[in-house]
Amino acid sequence: MPNDEHDYRLPRTAVPRRYGLTLAPDLEGGKFTGHEDVTIEVLEPSAELVVNAIELEIGSAAITTAAGRRLEATVRLDEESERAYFTFAETLSAGPATLHCSFTGTLNDKLRGFYRSRYTDAEGKEQVIATTQMEATHARRSFPCWDEPDLKASFGVTLELAADLMGVSNGPEVDRTALPDGRISVRFADTMVMSTYLVAFIVGRLEATEPVDVDGVPLRIVHVPGKAHLTGFGLDVGKFSLQHFVDYYGIPYPDAKVDLIAVPDFAAGAMENLGCITFREALLLVDPASATMQEEMLVADVVAHELAHMWFGDLVTMRWWNGLWLNEAFATFMEVMACDAYRPDWQRWVAFGLERTAAFEVDGLQSTRAIEYPVNSPADAEGMFDVLTYQKGAALLRMLEQYLGEDRLRDGIRHYLTVHAYENTETGDLWDAIEAVTGDPVRKIMDSWIWQGGHPVVSASLSDDGNNIVLRQHRFLFDGDDDGREWAVPVLVRQSAGGATQVDKLLLDGASTMLPTMTPDAVVVVNAGAHGFYRSRYDGPLLQRLASVATTELSAAERYQLVDDTWGAVIAGLTGADEFCQFARGFAGETELSVWQLLLAGLRWCDRFLDGEARTSFQAFVRELLTPAVERLGWAPVPLERSLDAELRGTLVRALALLGADSTAQARARALFDDPNVDPALAVAAVNVVAATGDASDFERIQARLQSATTPQEELRYLYALAEVSDPDLVDRTLDLAMSGKVRSQNAPFLIGRCMANRDHGERAWRLVRTRWTEINARFPDTSIIRMLDPIKTLTKPEQYADTKAFFAEHPVPQAARTLDQLLEREGINVKLRQRATPDLLEQFSRR
Ligand code: BES
Ligand code: ZN
Repeated sequence: MPNDEHDYRLPRTAVPRRYGLTLAPDLEGGKFTGHEDVTIEVLEPSAELVVNAIELEIGSAAITTAAGRRLEATVRLDEESERAYFTFAETLSAGPATLHCSFTGTLNDKLRGFYRSRYTDAEGKEQVIATTQMEATHARRSFPCWDEPDLKASFGVTLELAADLMGVSNGPEVDRTALPDGRISVRFADTMVMSTYLVAFIVGRLEATEPVDVDGVPLRIVHVPGKAHLTGFGLDVGKFSLQHFVDYYGIPYPDAKVDLIAVPDFAAGAMENLGCITFREALLLVDPASATMQEEMLVADVVAHELAHMWFGDLVTMRWWNGLWLNEAFATFMEVMACDAYRPDWQRWVAFGLERTAAFEVDGLQSTRAIEYPVNSPADAEGMFDVLTYQKGAALLRMLEQYLGEDRLRDGIRHYLTVHAYENTETGDLWDAIEAVTGDPVRKIMDSWIWQGGHPVVSASLSDDGNNIVLRQHRFLFDGDDDGREWAVPVLVRQSAGGATQVDKLLLDGASTMLPTMTPDAVVVVNAGAHGFYRSRYDGPLLQRLASVATTELSAAERYQLVDDTWGAVIAGLTGADEFCQFARGFAGETELSVWQLLLAGLRWCDRFLDGEARTSFQAFVRELLTPAVERLGWAPVPLERSLDAELRGTLVRALALLGADSTAQARARALFDDPNVDPALAVAAVNVVAATGDASDFERIQARLQSATTPQEELRYLYALAEVSDPDLVDRTLDLAMSGKVRSQNAPFLIGRCMANRDHGERAWRLVRTRWTEINARFPDTSIIRMLDPIKTLTKPEQYADTKAFFAEHPVPQAARTLDQLLEREGINVKLRQRATPDLLEQFSRR
C-alpha cells in the first residue's frame, strides 16, 4: 500500500469552484444515480483530470471548455487509490471549464458516504431514509470530487425524489418542479465555499418543526414522523448556543439556515455539515421529563459542539487532516463553554475534569502522540478522531484561556476567524492571530504542547529556609523512564495562610522555577482552579498541609484533580491501591458528582482485583463510605434540589447496591424499577441493579422495556443494562442479541464493548469478538471498531493480555492503528496494576 504524502494528495492541475450536483436516490432499490456539472479552473494545461471516487460507477464524463467546446473523457477508476482519471483527446488549456459526469452507486449499510437508514413507522412498515456521512473521506463515495479539505468550493444541490418525501441539504430550498415521471426535483441554494466533507443530503419520510428565528437565521429540527414531542429541548439549546456563538465569535452565522437532523442510523455522534447537521437520535431528541441531567447535558453538548463548528471547521478549516485538532479541540472547548453558559447549575467545567482525565490516561502512555500528527491515508485521517485531538486539545485550550484571560483569548479567536474566513489554516495561523491581539508569546508556549506528546508532572517543594516554593517538571508516564521532555507550563499557584490568599501566574519554562512563599507555613495549591494539563505532586510538608484543608479550601474542580492525580499515581505504581482506599475515606463528606464519579471509578478497579472474603470486606468498606452520603441526599428527590444532586443520588445508590453489595439498597432499587413515576436518575440506577442482580425473568423484563421504550434515552438505558448481567448464560444472550441484527449497527459494537467490561464475564465478549472478527468488521461501522475494543484494557490477567496482543499482531485495525497500540500498552499497565494491587488490597481487606 502506498503511504507517502504524494500518493494520497491530488495533483493541483485543476481545482473546483462550484459543484452543481443532482442526486436521485432509489430508496426501495438501495441505489442512487447522480449527475454533476463542476465548474473548475484549470491551473496547468493537461489532458487529464484526477479526482477522488470510490464505490461509484461512472457512466460518462465530458468537459466543456471556456470556448464552449465539448470533449468526451475516457474514464478509468482506480479503487486502490480511490481515484477517477478523466483523459481527453487534447490538452485542456489553463482557465475555466466545466466537467460533466454521470454516475451511479449503492446506498450502503456501512453508515458512510451516501447510505441507507431504516425505521419502522406507526403502521409497523419499514421505511428507508437515504442520508450522508462524508467526513473524513467519504464524499468520494457519493460523487466524484476533489475530496481534500482545502479544495473548497460552492455546492448547488438538487434532489430528485417521490413527491411525498422530504429532501434536506446544506442550503435552503429555493425551487421545486415536477418531473415527468411524477417525482419532484428540489433545488437548494448554493452554499458558501466549503470543504467536500461538509456536504450533506437526506431524503426520506421525515418531518420538520416550525423554524425558530435566531438572529435572522431559521433553525429547525428534522426527525422521523411521530417524534415532534421530543424536539423542544434540542431547539431550546440550539437557539441558545447558536446565539451564544454569534456573540462570542462576533461574526454572524455564515450561511442561510440551520437544520438539526435526527438520523436513526448514524456512525459517529453527530456531524457538522454546514446548515444540515446530522445526529444520532439519542443526541438530539430528548424528553426532559424522563431524561436524567447527564442525558440532557449530552444533548446540550452535542448540539453546541456541532454549532460551534459552523465557524470553527466550516468557515475556517484545517488545511489537512494533521490539523484536525483545529476543528475538534475547538468545538469541544466551545461546547463546554456554551453548555456552561446554558445551564450554569450543571457546573460543566467541573465535569470537564472527566474529559481531561480521559486525555491524561492516554497521554501518560509511551505510545501517545503529538496533537499535530502526520496523516497520509484515509485510514490515518480516521485515526485522528481520538481523545488526544478532542479532549487533550480542548484541555489545552482551557489552560491557555485561563492563562491569557477569557476576553483576550476570545479576541484572538475573533481575529483568527475574521482573517481566515472561507480559507484553510495551519496551527501557526492561530497563534499568530492570538499574538497579534494579545502580544503574549502564545506560539512559544503552545508549540511545546502541540508538537510533542505527553505532559508533565509539576512537583512542589519548599526551599530549605521555607521562603520559596520550588517547582520542577518531569514527564509523567505511567510506565517508563522520563525522556527529558519539557513543556512551557502555565502554572497558577494559590497560597493561603491566616485567612489571606494570593494567586500567582507563572510560566514554568525549563526544568525548575521558584516563587516566594507568602509565609513559610502557607497552604500551597499548584494547579489552582485545576485548569492546567499537568499533574501535581507535593513534598512531605506541603502535602500534609494540603491534605488537612482538602475538603474545606479546595474547589470542586481542585478536589477532582487531587483524586485524579492520586489515582494516576496508583496506575503508575507510585501509590498503593490500598492507600487509595484510605485516601477515599477522606471524601466521605464529598458533595460533588464528578469527584464521586472518579472515586468510584478507582474503587471499581480495586473491586476487579479482589475475590472471596477480601472482596466481601471491601464491599463493607464501600458501604461505610457511601451510606452516609446516600442518607444525606435521601432516597427520593427533594423539591428544588440541584440537578447535580439528583444525578449524584442515582450514582451513589447504584454504587451502594452493586459495588457495596448492599442488600437494602438492592431491594429499594428493585422496587423503584416498578415505580412508573420514579425520578430519572433513580430509574437508571434501578434498571442497572435489576440487570446486575437479576435472573432470566429480569432479563426478559428489561428486554420488554427495551421493545416498548418511547424515548431514545430509555431505549439505550435498557439496551446497555443488558451488558451488566451476572449470569454467564445471560451475557451470552446479550451477545447473541448484539449480533442478531435486531440491534442497530450503530449500537451493537457498544453493547459488545460493555459486555467486555463486565467484571465477571468480559472474556466471553472478547472471545466472541475474536471468533467473529471478520463478520464484525463487515457489519459494523469502521469508526466503531476501536470504540468497541476499548474495554479490552479491563482484561488484566496475564494470559488475557498475551491473547489480545497475539490476536492484534495478526488482525490490525488500520483506521485506528495508533489507538490500538495505546489500548494494548494500557492493558499491559493494568496487568501490572493488578499484580501490585491484589496483594496490597488483600492485606488491607483481610485485616478488617
Ligand atoms: N466531526 C465530528 C464527527 C465525526 C467523527 C466525523 C469521527 C468523522 C469521524 C463531529 O463534530 C464530532 O466531533 N462528533 C462527536 C460528538 C461530539 C459532541 C464530541 C462524535 O461523533 O463523537
Ligand atoms: Zn466535532
